Amino acid sequence: MTRIVYVNGRYLRYRAAQVHAEDRGFQLADAVYEVIEVRGGQLVDETRHLARLSRSLGELGIREPMSRRALGLVLRQTMLRNRIENGLVYLQVTRGAAPRDFLFPSPPVRPTVVCLARRLDPARLEARAAAGIAVKTMPDFRWARSDIKTVMLLPACLAKEAARAAGADEAWFVDRQGFVTEGASSNAWILDARDRLVTHPRETTILAGVARATVIDVLAEAGVDLIERPFRVAEALAAREAFITSASATVMPVVKIDGTAIGDGRPGRVTQLLRSRFHQVAEISSR
Ligand code: PDD
Repeated sequence: MTRIVYVNGRYLRYRAAQVHAEDRGFQLADAVYEVIEVRGGQLVDETRHLARLSRSLGELGIREPMSRRALGLVLRQTMLRNRIENGLVYLQVTRGAAPRDFLFPSPPVRPTVVCLARRLDPARLEARAAAGIAVKTMPDFRWARSDIKTVMLLPACLAKEAARAAGADEAWFVDRQGFVTEGASSNAWILDARDRLVTHPRETTILAGVARATVIDVLAEAGVDLIERPFRVAEALAAREAFITSASATVMPVVKIDGTAIGDGRPGRVTQLLRSRFHQVAEISSR
């Protein structure tokens, strides 16, 4: 449970943590965020997450709220003050609070920064990974700039609700041409008949996941071939293996897509190898 929340320079008790009613994040989803894994009291892939945050801010023309070093201190303090050994740190930056207007405030206002941390039970995650998850496909009805990690997550919420209603754990979005773009909160991967990993290329229609980048590093070491190209649902259904990647799940096996078992219906060998090597290759920050 989060007990302490960082808000604009102060570490506040959970119930006292508030932002302004006219914060543009609240009114207009004019905000970006990062979710960073905490493992053994250390941040995983901090450099890549903070680089992506800078990129998201830059794409939207939101000012950098502070230096990367200062943001790193906020992440660590929030993790430490909440005594998180294993879990997540959530960091959000909005354009700030200003009277509601579509146009950006001019002159710019101070960005709002919120950071909180949450515990995750590693044993539960491992049990999930041992069983594998089910995925439901659905049309990608998001905007065309999913490469920017904005808090505009209503399509993802609706997709996950629909997945759950169908007995699945994650939604995979499918574009108008019939290609899988990515998961509602993860990147999507399959292993083809020739043992090559396939995932959607980095384009404006998907988020360039940090776990995705780290898995690509793992592949290079493990000698598994990668093809970055779009794949169709039918190809996924016939794949040897499938999995998703994200900061919270790292590498999570997918054993069912739209009710059809993938491979032999159990987590695949390559998927498990990538999962087991993930943290040996990821950047583990000092405390
Ligand atoms: N989601 N694609 C989407 C749409 C995502 O929301 C996420 C992350 C990813 C994977 O990115 P990364 O490997 O950097 O976590 C891909 C986070 C975990 C979330 O919203 O909770």
